[in-house]
Amino acid sequence: MRTRSLLPAALLAALSGSLQAWPAQPVEPFVADCDSLDSVPLRQHMNYNADIQPIWSQRCANCHVDFGDDQPEADLSLNPEKSWYFLVNQGSSMAGSNLIRVVPDKPLASLLFNKVNCEVQDQGLRMPRARPPLPLEEQALIHDWILAGAPQEGDDTIFRTRFEIRG
Ligand code: HEC
Repeated sequence: MRTRSLLPAALLAALSGSLQAWPAQPVEPFVADCDSLDSVPLRQHMNYNADIQPIWSQRCANCHVDFGDDQPEADLSLNPEKSWYFLVNQGSSMAGSNLIRVVPDKPLASLLFNKVNCEVQDQGLRMPRARPPLPLEEQALIHDWILAGAPQEGDDTIFRTRFEIRG
């Protein structure tokens, strides 16, 4: 069970003091058997190349690799120089899927986070495929990176004004 809480959109709209229409929410997939990340402290500062890419390079790269004539699984290259571009704001390559791999600010709407944290209905297997789930710290890091807006580089100057909390 995931216990991350989201304030209702109506309350957020009221808090924002704005009468603007609430933007359409990205689709959240149906998930099951998610790991709780409540025990891992929220991390506010990270660097994509130093903190996130090593997860791909260590645990995903032999399938999601792109060199020579090899095609990466699911048309998702997690090579160091390509991974950010293949993930952020990119749609799933699975036929008929309307899910987005990484929706900045919205881990629960991001296929990537759900695929490493849960079983996702009608979206293949949990990643890393046919291996043990990622350690909770790495799942949490992916969550927190997306929540921080999925920055491409370091984020020493991120100011957190978001309402979502993990745990
Ligand atoms: C043993 C090979 C293998 C490993 C290791 C692996 N993947 Fe995958 N991945 C696949 C295959 C095959 C698919 C497509 C079928 C599926 O989703 O089950 C896929 C699909 C995906 C998708 C969905 C892409 C889309 O467009 O729908 C994501 C996201 C993903 N993998 C992330 C990861 C991450 C992150 C890791 C490492 C933590 C990882 N994978 C490790 C083989 C692998």
